[in-house]
Amino acid sequence: MSVTSSDSAAYSGALEGSNAQRGLWSSRLAFILAATGSAVGLGNIWKFPYVTGENGGGAFVLVYLLCIAVVGIPIMMAEVMIGRHGGRSPVKSLSLIAERDGLNPAWKLVGAIGILAGFLILSFYSVIGGWAISYVGTTASGQLTGQTADAVGAIFSGLLSDPTTLLAWHTLFMALVMVVVVRGVRSGLERAVSILMPALFVLLLIVVGYAMTTGHFGQAAAFLFQPDFSKLTTSGILVALGHAFFTLSLGMAVMMAYGSYLPKNISIAKTSMTVSVIDTGVALLAGLAIFPIVFANGLEPGAGPGLIFQTLPLAFGQMPMGSLFGTLFFVLLIFAAWTSGISLL
Ligand code: ALA
Repeated sequence: MSVTSSDSAAYSGALEGSNAQRGLWSSRLAFILAATGSAVGLGNIWKFPYVTGENGGGAFVLVYLLCIAVVGIPIMMAEVMIGRHGGRSPVKSLSLIAERDGLNPAWKLVGAIGILAGFLILSFYSVIGGWAISYVGTTASGQLTGQTADAVGAIFSGLLSDPTTLLAWHTLFMALVMVVVVRGVRSGLERAVSILMPALFVLLLIVVGYAMTTGHFGQAAAFLFQPDFSKLTTSGILVALGHAFFTLSLGMAVMMAYGSYLPKNISIAKTSMTVSVIDTGVALLAGLAIFPIVFANGLEPGAGPGLIFQTLPLAFGQMPMGSLFGTLFFVLLIFAAWTSGISLL
């Protein structure tokens, strides 16, 4: 992609904070909601609990928190800064900055690789988003009520082995994402996140409130927060580092793109820290929502990617008002995946 003189003019414009034609976030809160909407997603509610379960709990969580603090937050700040500085798409921003500073034009590849990563992530993300939509119906219709582990497992494998149904749910998920993206930054993204993010927090707190009544909340808190370093492996450390990138939407060009709509007078450091703290808080809350239910039902925390689609539904099928809380849980998962899908697209 070559840099034209109009791009250079736009770059100067961006430096002056005058890229208003592309639209800018209306406020710091709008950016925080959108960036948090991107960060909080399947990574927090689906992946964090299962990788924590697989890697033994507390010690893994501690390494993950360290990775967020010392690697994730500085990289988020850098990505947002590059985006705001260039004021264009990730590839154009890096192109313009490299041109102005006399750097190697290959810098734009960093933006291109990020976009490729975002594309690859969205290609599986949207499939799992489709599973979440499907499970709202499965849970709400009471299909899980009183089922055995084998029957719950058969429902999940039945979904995975039915390409037509999978394609339909995936398409619906992508349609939801596109409906928002085509409306643009303010009337699409801002409006969607200002409704979905508060709704997501309320739903999460309801499920955590329910988890507190299971009698196993203390056990779950100990699992998450009491490090047992004998359970920490080298691969666990790498998983924690990789997860820090995934959960903060780093390396996928998202924060550069969102940063390009950030007005000049907003602090990048403060907003990046706020987004990261909220994202981490949501992951820990998701753990506090899921593990008490897992322990109360004698289930296996290290069940892997099926934890919330096989293990947890088994518990929802056994517990009082399980259909209601199960449905709320999967609606929460859709909202989380939706706002991240929007940012990836
Ligand atoms: N940051 C997004 C997530 O955690 C991709 O799901």
